[in-house]
Amino acid sequence: MREFISHSPEETHALAAELLKSLPARAVIALHGDLGSGKTCFVQGLAEALGVTEPVTSPTFTLVNEYMGTRALTHVDLYRLSDPDEALAMGFEELVESDGITAVEWAERAEELLPAETLHLRFKTPEDGTTRVISITQG
Ligand SMILES: Nc1ncnc2c1ncn2[C@@H]1O[C@H](COP(=O)(O)OP(=O)(O)OP(=O)(O)O)[C@@H](O)[C@H]1O
Ligand SMILES: [Mg+2]
Repeated sequence: MREFISHSPEETHALAAELLKSLPARAVIALHGDLGSGKTCFVQGLAEALGVTEPVTSPTFTLVNEYMGTRALTHVDLYRLSDPDEALAMGFEELVESDGITAVEWAERAEELLPAETLHLRFKTPEDGTTRVISITQG
């Protein structure tokens, strides 16, 4: 496990850019953590590093947003999912096989559909303010 401390949204963006350098051409990133812990902020950092020019917003209502930068970025948010069958119905299995980077917020709602090599990022907010503890594990 690797652990990082971010003190600002900008540091979370920088961490995303750094992590991206070590990712294979196709990768799934599962993002876990409370509301407002910085999952979407991290995806915005990925998008920025991939040269995506459109604004990246939370796909909470649409479930999936796709962006094209130097690599494809698929942003999924499973917050509204009540059970894994709904993930199957939305084509989640195909999404995690798509080219490029697939980042999934609230990924634990479809845990059993995640590929074995998924990178898991856990966001914790230890105190009120802008500190975030981000731990990374694989598999
Ligand atoms: N160190 C930090 N890293 C990331 N975000 C931070 C940090 N400090 C403050 N913030 C703020 O916390 C908020 C994080 O919101 P964000 O939408 O990324 O959360 P989220 O985990 O995606 O929540 P949700 O589960 O509702 O989708 C933003 O307003 C951001 O500016
Ligand atoms: Mg979010």
